[in-house]
Amino acid sequence: MKRAESSGARPRWLAAQACRAVLDRGQALDEALASLLDPVADGRDRALVRRLANGVMRDWPALDFIVRNLLERPVKSGDRIVFYLLVVAVHELRDGREPDHAVVHAAVDAAAGFRGGRLRGLVNAVLRNFLRRRDGLEAQAAEEPARLAGYPHWLIDRIGSDWPAQAESILAAGNRVPPLWLRVNRRRWNREQALEAISQAGFSGHLPKGFADALVLDERVRVSALPGLAEGALSVQDGAAQLVVEELELADGQRVLDACAAPGGKSAHILERADVDLTALDIDADRLVRVEENFARAGLKARMLTGDAADPRGWWDGRRFDRILIDAPCSATGVIRRHPDIRWLRRASDVDALVATQRAMLEALWPLLEPGGILVYATCSVLVAENAGQMQSFLERHVDARLVDHPELPGRAVAPGRQLLPGDEDCDGFYCLAARRLH
Ligand SMILES: C[S@@+](CC[C@H](N)C(=O)[O-])C[C@H]1O[C@@H](n2cnc3c(N)ncnc32)[C@H](O)[C@@H]1O
Repeated sequence: MKRAESSGARPRWLAAQACRAVLDRGQALDEALASLLDPVADGRDRALVRRLANGVMRDWPALDFIVRNLLERPVKSGDRIVFYLLVVAVHELRDGREPDHAVVHAAVDAAAGFRGGRLRGLVNAVLRNFLRRRDGLEAQAAEEPARLAGYPHWLIDRIGSDWPAQAESILAAGNRVPPLWLRVNRRRWNREQALEAISQAGFSGHLPKGFADALVLDERVRVSALPGLAEGALSVQDGAAQLVVEELELADGQRVLDACAAPGGKSAHILERADVDLTALDIDADRLVRVEENFARAGLKARMLTGDAADPRGWWDGRRFDRILIDAPCSATGVIRRHPDIRWLRRASDVDALVATQRAMLEALWPLLEPGGILVYATCSVLVAENAGQMQSFLERHVDARLVDHPELPGRAVAPGRQLLPGDEDCDGFYCLAARRLH
């Protein structure tokens, strides 16, 4: 398939393919983009494809509604990619960064390489029609809550019932582009040194209060351009996730289990903080390879085990741990601003299955904790069933578990635990609770 390159047709075409992979086939956007962008050398084109595909994820219900309205009849299933090309173009027209004529031109050019170009006329007509009818269509699109918010109904309802007063701001925060948070490896640099290195490289950032190892960049930058990343002096990690090490109350010599370790962000932070004997466990052997790669990059050492946290018989050596971290698999509803496709990939029914898995892990791992030791349970979810609901019932079942409060840490006190909602302190949504084993 040949397409004109000059007008920016190729990035639009690739963005349409990425959207189709997520919305028709249920593939994760990062995964779809990784293979689609592999042959794309131009950094600006790569960034454009990412921006357009992410933008469509944030606004899919309205875009779907508008494009369906503009088409006299649905496109044939074999031409479905053209539907997504229109979705991407309408998103870009609504976004308004490029002149309208340039957007239409690029989309028509992109269609020129498909099926001998016979759908070019349709693309041109639909987009021009959008420009003529846009006010009316926008008004109609805004009539329905899911189209206005850009989320599926089930998630709007669930967040609404869990967080009635905050629901609107949670949904809005999930549609904003997040800042870039970095973690400073205190074995290499202190935060001031890291800030200095960043500013010498031509970037500006600040040191947020309450986050001992964090540096936040003031603008979006290409991550690979940052100093210290290759050597592990800096790592990309949201501020909320960085607070887990504080809850763990680490000290040299402890035996620590990170039960859901991949891709290794929190494991690395643990090792940057203390000389502990770390076991990094994950059920996914391929993801664990990424932990090994990250550790090799930073010169960190841990025992890597592939296994099921809910079934220690397969991997436990019988020696108890002083600290256990369960950074549990969850709905990821707190990181939607970072992964806007999550809202379309998750189903309401997934949440019950996740709650059952989390509970099974808690039950299996609690007996592996030394008396006096601390277990930290964390999720990047905002749903009560996975967070305070899960841990309330855990504390009720285990009379030998005592909540360890951390009122000094950023976040909202919930009963029980600490919750950051998306946008709180400019962070992702995150839940964390520490429990000490009494005997
Ligand atoms: C939220 S991620 C962990 C992120 C990681 N702690 C970090 O900071 O980079 C959840 C992880 O749990 C793993 N997982 C899911 N079910 C598991 C199980 N039954 N036992 C162990 N790991 C599991 C997944 O493969 C995934 O890597």
